[in-house]
Amino acid sequence: TFMLIFWAVFGYGLGSVAFGMVIAKAMGLGNLREVGSGNIGATNVLRTGSKKAAALTVLLDGGKGAVAVLLARFISGEDAAQVAGLMAFIGHCFPVWLGFRGGKGVATFLGILLALVWPVGIACCLTWLVTALLSRISSMAAITAAASSTIWMLALGGGTSFLLGIILTLLVFFRHASNIRRLRAGTEPKIGQK
Ligand code: G3P
Repeated sequence: TFMLIFWAVFGYGLGSVAFGMVIAKAMGLGNLREVGSGNIGATNVLRTGSKKAAALTVLLDGGKGAVAVLLARFISGEDAAQVAGLMAFIGHCFPVWLGFRGGKGVATFLGILLALVWPVGIACCLTWLVTALLSRISSMAAITAAASSTIWMLALGGGTSFLLGIILTLLVFFRHASNIRRLRAGTEPKIGQK
């Protein structure tokens, strides 16, 4: 139990590092809260005009989820990996440093999935990519990829990660409430648009 608590705290701490915010500030791109949707994720970083900063944000926000899972698994096993993954996601969405107003968890979700069950992770990344190419809307790709994870888990085998996959999928949906409202109203911007 002590180790699980340790990995929960570790996962939360790592997940709560808002790389988008840090990168935007470091590269002189301004305050993300005053850009586009005000979100701290790569989609909004791209609205500053820097593809490089956006790519770096995806890599680091995804990477922190993957690292939390892999490190916990390597040292303490599968239960610890799942706890670390869940808490990294929670840390990204509700970071104490930003008054619990964090991101929507898409990159982190994909990083966690890649580390937990890589075939499902790859399938979800491809689902995101195909939906993004077709719709040109990041949030549409995000909720489609999240929803698809359950199907990929069933098709490719999610093992003990199945329940965690469902929990993360629901959280991604809740975090996209405002996007879903805009999608329904037809006012959600395309990727790269303000
Ligand atoms: O990854 C978040 C994305 O799906 C939506 O971001 O900034 O358009 O709300 P944003």
